[in-house]
Amino acid sequence: MSGQLAGQVVFVTGGARGQGRSHAEAAAREGADVVLFDRCQDSAAVAYPLATEADLAQTAELVRAHGREVLALTGDVRDPAEVDSAVAEAVRRFGRIDALIANAGVHGGGSIQDADRGIWDEVLGVNLTGVFQSMRAVAPHMIERGYGRIVATASNQGRMAVPGSVPYVASKWGVVGLVKAAALDLAAFGITVNAVAPGNTSTPMVHNDALYRALRPDLDAPEWKDVEPLLREHHVQPVTLLDAAEITAAVLFLIGPGTPHVTGSVIDVNAGSAARYTA
Ligand SMILES: NC(=O)c1ccc[n+]([C@@H]2O[C@H](COP(=O)([O-])OP(=O)(O)OC[C@H]3O[C@@H](n4cnc5c(N)ncnc54)[C@H](O)[C@@H]3O)[C@@H](O)[C@H]2O)c1
Repeated sequence: MSGQLAGQVVFVTGGARGQGRSHAEAAAREGADVVLFDRCQDSAAVAYPLATEADLAQTAELVRAHGREVLALTGDVRDPAEVDSAVAEAVRRFGRIDALIANAGVHGGGSIQDADRGIWDEVLGVNLTGVFQSMRAVAPHMIERGYGRIVATASNQGRMAVPGSVPYVASKWGVVGLVKAAALDLAAFGITVNAVAPGNTSTPMVHNDALYRALRPDLDAPEWKDVEPLLREHHVQPVTLLDAAEITAAVLFLIGPGTPHVTGSVIDVNAGSAARYTA
């Protein structure tokens, strides 16, 4: 693809780093101006560091390097006022939002026996309510224009379960349901709503000591080599981590000009996890 988003405006939540950064940079490469929205603050309920303002500034630079404009905003997808005001600011600045990539998310696990209520609230709040708030914020504007592309980031854990991951699995299954319900509601207005379901992807959400310790509680100081075989089991193809660019390719497919009638779908980019689903 080249220049396929020329003149468009793409709004990326969780855009400061990881997959969000990859989506933002690719959108700019394809000719879009980009709105980045990220909390840029750690959470007491999340056991690894979230993005920083420096990360956000770095992503903004990557967008500018493609000759595109960027609006880099801090805010929390759980907070309707902050999301609404970011959307309003984006529309004031650029006059339009063509695509929402509802990508912000946090990882937090725990089995049904021991999942902490604070982690449950945080993970459901960001991963599910945050996607809901983001969709709600852009929908009136997209309806008015009779055009919109919405892509939410689910997970292979939104299509299957893994042990000890009750909050995350529940949040991502919720995203799939939310996407399908919103796709029905917005179908008459030229708006498509889809999800991508990544497998393990090489971002700070995976590369952190907290996840290593959660996966290997039997070890004092687990390292990558100790968790890698467990993560590999999530996939069918013999690969443990995907590059964010692979997820971005699916996102671009869904917000690009060639897919006006793909809606309510989940695109699995997860090294064959999809082959294990019942449908
Ligand atoms: N990395 C993986 O293996 C993997 C696999 C499947 C799905 N996912 C999903 O992909 C998405 C992107 O994650 P990633 O892998 O790039 O991880 P990441 O931690 O690098 O990026 C997540 C981003 O979301 C931001 N964020 C977190 N809470 C926020 C909030 N309340 N408001 C605004 N921004 C917030 C973080 O600051 C960070 O920049 C997430 O929804 C995640 O659940 C990740």
